[in-house]
Amino acid sequence: MNLFSTLWGPLLAATLGCLFASVEASKDSLTKHAKPTFTFDQLWDLEKTFWDAFLYPANLEQTQGNSSRIFASDVQGRVDITRTFDGDELNREYIFGLFSDPEHVSLVGVPIAYNITQFAANDNIASATTVVTFNATTFGVLIPVTIDTWIEFNPDGKIAQYDAVFRWFEYLVDFLIGGVATKINATSPDQAVAYVADLLANTICETHEQYCTGSNQQYTDTTACYDFLTKTARFGKSYELGRNTLLCREVHEHMVQYRPEIHCAHIGPGGGGYCVDDMSYGQTVLQRYFNDSWIPFGYGTDQNLWLAN
Ligand SMILES: *[C@@H]1O[C@H](CO)[C@@H](O)[C@H](O)[C@H]1NC(C)=O
Ligand SMILES: *[C@@H]1O[C@H](CO)[C@@H](O)[C@H](O)[C@H]1NC(C)=O
Ligand SMILES: *[C@@H]1O[C@H](CO)[C@@H](O)[C@H](O)[C@H]1NC(C)=O
Ligand SMILES: *[C@@H]1O[C@H](CO)[C@@H](O)[C@H](O)[C@H]1NC(C)=O
Ligand SMILES: *[C@@H]1O[C@H](CO)[C@@H](O)[C@H](O)[C@H]1NC(C)=O
Repeated sequence: MNLFSTLWGPLLAATLGCLFASVEASKDSLTKHAKPTFTFDQLWDLEKTFWDAFLYPANLEQTQGNSSRIFASDVQGRVDITRTFDGDELNREYIFGLFSDPEHVSLVGVPIAYNITQFAANDNIASATTVVTFNATTFGVLIPVTIDTWIEFNPDGKIAQYDAVFRWFEYLVDFLIGGVATKINATSPDQAVAYVADLLANTICETHEQYCTGSNQQYTDTTACYDFLTKTARFGKSYELGRNTLLCREVHEHMVQYRPEIHCAHIGPGGGGYCVDDMSYGQTVLQRYFNDSWIPFGYGTDQNLWLAN
């Protein structure tokens, strides 16, 4: 990746998108947005544009300013191990801000390289598998993370919807914990989990102390914060990064700096609607979330239970 493609690739691709995408009126009532038709080349470029922007330090740019070249203002996003995220600002904080500080304690660190290993695309929808190398600075390892994505682009080449799945994520968490166990000579996996919990809780509580003041304060003091995160909240399974867990608060902790008034509640005891046990397995799997169909050419409109309306 060179500097040119980092800075100008996204702009160029977005411009190309505007010029060449032919927009047709919605074919069916289930399609809520204008549905552009891109060529395979354009969709490949748009896909690469996203992943180039995702890499550190290019991702820093996306956390600044007040609107993005990457996401539509009303973007809808879902990540299987967390939950759904609406709107450009939240998604920039989440998709880019979460992975942009190598000095800060985090699970996977910063993304530094990627390979797209599978790719198919039609209309304005691309499905890809991307193996991203993360520099997991907290754990001192380079770690490959496999992310399966479906992305829908709007006529400007911005992301209107995305649906992401972290493949082998449970294996990844176990690998990281295993590395810690070796490093600290743990006699049981639980001991390594407790070590990581201590590290994450201290980090979250420091962030709380620094940013969550006044009406944004969630815990009476650092002890109350630490006790809640290590004793009351459970550590969290690999699919529980959007539930009432320590791992969920570790995710949201990174976003607190951007908008304390929004994100402090997410690291607090109440979970602010994000770190909460509000959905069952069935509700999660059957959630009618997306406004636009993920099946190109208007196919399958009679039977798509993931569509909101
Ligand atoms: C966003 O940035 C643009 C360009 O810098 C500016 O014109 C606009 O007023 C800003 N909007 C908000 C809500 O800050
Ligand atoms: C999705 O559809 C609902 C209901 O029509 C609407 O309120 C919402 O704004 C739509 N969201 C997006 C991102 O288009
Ligand atoms: C992807 O491929 C490039 C070029 O072969 C390589 O330099 C890079 O490290 C690879 N990235 C990953 C995530 O393996
Ligand atoms: C990973 O991060 C560490 C700490 O910032 C840095 O020293 C190292 O060079 C990075 N590794 C790569 C391959 O970027
Ligand atoms: C783990 O054990 C090794 C070998 O016995 C020892 O050198 C190392 O200091 C121990 N590490 C910790 C963190 O106790």
